[in-house]
Amino acid sequence: MTNMATILNSMRDPMGVPFYPWMFQALMVLTFALHIIFVNLVIGGASLAMYGHIKGKEEPKWKRLSATLARASTVNLSLAIVLGVAPLLFVQVIYDPFWYFSNVLSGWWAMGFLLFICIAFLALYVFYLKRGENIEGYGFFGAIALVMLALTAITISALSVQSLHPEKWDSWYLIGKHMNTAGTALHDLNIARLLHFIVPSFAITGIFLMLYSWYFEPRKDFDHEYLTWVGKTGAKLALYFTLLQIVVGVWWLLTIPKNLDFLTNPALLGGAAVGVVTLVILVGAQKNPQKQAIPVAFVAFLAVLAMSITREVLRMEYLGKFNYSIYTYKLNLDWGSTFLFFATFVMGLIVISYPIIIAFKLGRGTDVTGGE
Ligand code: HEM
Repeated sequence: MTNMATILNSMRDPMGVPFYPWMFQALMVLTFALHIIFVNLVIGGASLAMYGHIKGKEEPKWKRLSATLARASTVNLSLAIVLGVAPLLFVQVIYDPFWYFSNVLSGWWAMGFLLFICIAFLALYVFYLKRGENIEGYGFFGAIALVMLALTAITISALSVQSLHPEKWDSWYLIGKHMNTAGTALHDLNIARLLHFIVPSFAITGIFLMLYSWYFEPRKDFDHEYLTWVGKTGAKLALYFTLLQIVVGVWWLLTIPKNLDFLTNPALLGGAAVGVVTLVILVGAQKNPQKQAIPVAFVAFLAVLAMSITREVLRMEYLGKFNYSIYTYKLNLDWGSTFLFFATFVMGLIVISYPIIIAFKLGRGTDVTGGE
């Protein structure tokens, strides 16, 4: 173990980090939460769009919802990709020895990941644009998009898991006494962990449908019976898949090594508590999903954030066994780049908030001209 600690610490960037590691860690957890929410919206939205595509041949409501979700999924995929870059940068800064080694072990997959996303993106666009009024055909492209998204998720999850097991790296990197530099294999995948990030797709998409129903409610030109149906369908989906998520969560916990003593970890207990609150509030929201959409979305966001924190605490437990701590990373304070980072970040938020507010009001049918 001591040997491994020396190896890991010597693989760090000798330049050190330009600001306190806790800041990178906090931003990594926050941006991962945002990333996984949009990943969930894409996987859940595209799956439901496909379901609606098939069911829509007999039921016009599903046909309409399928078209909406296909369109939304293209936007959500862009956001999932953009929001994936942020945790990628942070993980490379504070966990560089792990992330790079894992990527080297499976180089072809790390590169393939980019190809999978490109194909998923193109296929999703064809599915959305080409179906038109006649929804016969083109379902094939929706299916391709889903398969590619699944491959993307499998790849990134395997890379994450491989990075947590430095004790296995030599057995993966060596065949007998020879180095295996092919990078063609994925060496470790925890299905329970992967499902823990994918099953919520349907709960999160259900909440998205509740928000959709709430958002368009003031619009007189909308069919309100349809909106009520969308809200109720979303609330049911969110409830059933939150229940399933709890089962998957327990399964994942059972796969975590006993010597980490994770079952009694306060982060895990706190995360589980927020999960239960989400379930309770979802039960209450079944009667009037439209009215409860905002509180449900808020609590669900807290649950995803708590899950991201727990995921990070688990990583610290795994790597702590090798005496690795990000808090001992060499510090090379650079106020200039830190200031520039935050200044552009705040500026970006201000600039983007204006079009978002206008788009929000316009979509809801609010007069944005000030009555002129
Ligand atoms: C759109 C398709 C994508 C899907 C379905 C997806 C799915 C996932 C999943 C399931 C995880 C959790 C893995 C785990 O901890 O076991 C994850 C983590 C992550 N994803 Fe994505 N992702 C996608 C796109 C991206 C993109 C385009 C990037 C980067 C540009 C990215 C960067 C990351 C990072 C950095 C992590 C965390 C790695 C870590 O902390 O160890 N993802 N993603």
